[in-house]
Amino acid sequence: MTAPLIDPFARPIDYLRVSVTDRCDFRCVYCMSENMTFLPKKELLTLEELDRMCSTFVRLGVQKLRITGGEPLVRRDIMTFFRSMTRHIEAGDLRELTLTTNGSQLERFADDLFAAGVRRVNISLDTLDEKKFADVTRWGRLPQVMRGIDAAQRAGLRVKINAVALKGFNEEELFSITEWCASRDIDLTWIEVMPMGDIGNEDRIGQYWKLDDLRAQLAERYTITDLPERTGGPARYVRLEETGQKIGFITPLTHNFCESCNRVRLTCTGELFMCLGQEDNADLRSALRNHPASDAPLEEAIREAISRKPKGHDFDYSRQTVDGRVSRHMSHTGG
Ligand code: GTP
Ligand code: 5AD
Ligand code: SF4
Repeated sequence: MTAPLIDPFARPIDYLRVSVTDRCDFRCVYCMSENMTFLPKKELLTLEELDRMCSTFVRLGVQKLRITGGEPLVRRDIMTFFRSMTRHIEAGDLRELTLTTNGSQLERFADDLFAAGVRRVNISLDTLDEKKFADVTRWGRLPQVMRGIDAAQRAGLRVKINAVALKGFNEEELFSITEWCASRDIDLTWIEVMPMGDIGNEDRIGQYWKLDDLRAQLAERYTITDLPERTGGPARYVRLEETGQKIGFITPLTHNFCESCNRVRLTCTGELFMCLGQEDNADLRSALRNHPASDAPLEEAIREAISRKPKGHDFDYSRQTVDGRVSRHMSHTGG
C-alpha cells in the first residue's frame, strides 16, 4: 500500500477535480468575458496523459474524481477518457466518477456517461427564464439544457442543479426554482459568487447575494432542518419539510468551509492547484512528460504539492471591496 495523501493541516486529500478543457460553448457573465483567448491544443494534456495523471492520483488514494472544464463535454473524444476511468470503479479503487456540466451536450452523452459508471451529474443552471438564461450565459439556450436534463434523468443519472446566487437576477426565482426542482426530484445547491478571473465590466459586490439572506427568505415559506450529511464537497445541506427536498448551500464568502477541504484541482494543462482561491500551483505536466516510463517522479511531485496545500482562500467582500480575488478564470481551474 502507498501512503494516502495528507496535507499539512492533517486533511486527507481524496477528491480530485479535473478540468479537461478551458473551452466552453457558453460565456456566463460571472465566469468569462465575451472574448476569451483559449489555450493552444498542444498545451492540453492528451487523453492518455489525463488517464495516467488520474490513475496516479487514484493509486495515491483519490476516491472521487469530478470532471469539469470549461465545459467537459465539448472536449473531443472525452467519452474515451470516461470509459478509461471505468476500470478504477470496477476495481473498487474509485468510489465516484462524476462531472459538472452546463448541460448543453447531455442529450447526446447521458447514456454513455451512465454506461461508463457515472451516477450523478451536477448541472449549472441559474434561471428558468429563457430570456434571462440567454442573458447570463450569453451563448446558451435554455431548451437545449432542458433536453439535456431530461436525457440525464432518463438515463438514470441523479441530477443536482448548481445555481449561482445573483442579486437582482435570480432572487425573484428563489421559490420557482425550488419548486421546479422538487417537482422533478432534482437536488439543488446555491453558490455564492466568487471573485474569480477578469470578466470585464463586472460588479461582483452588486451581484453578491449572501446565502444567509437566501436561507432567511426560504424560511419565510418552509420549515428548514439542517442535515448532517456530507457528499465530500463543500455544500452544507438542509431539508425543506414541506416538500421533503434537499437544498445545499456553498458559502465560500459567509462561512468558510476550508477546514474540511479534501480536494485539489488539476487544470487542463496539468497544473495542480491546491486551493481554488490561491495562486500557488505545481507543474505536474513536466513530471509526467519528462518521465514516460515511470510514474515515480509524478508521484513525488504530487506529494510535494500536497505538502504545500494552504489552509484556505482569502475571498472577502466584507470591506465593500473585492479582496482575495484570483486572476485566473473559473474555467481554467474548473470551478
Ligand atoms: P458534490 O459532490 O455534489 O458535493 O459536488 P461539489 O459541491 O464538490 O461539486 P460542484 O462541482 O457541484 O461544486 C460546486 C461549486 O462549489 C464549484 O463549482 C465551486 O464554485 C464551489 N467549490 C467547490 N469546491 C470548492 C472549494 O474548495 N473552494 C471554494 N471556494 N469553492 C468550491
Ligand atoms: N462564483 C461562483 N460560482 C461560479 N461558477 C463559475 N464561476 C463562478 C463564480 N465566479 C460556477 C458555475 C458552475 C460551477 C462549475 O462553478 O455556475 O456551477
Ligand atoms: Fe461555461 Fe460553466 Fe463558465 Fe458558464 S460557468 S461559461 S457554462 S464554464
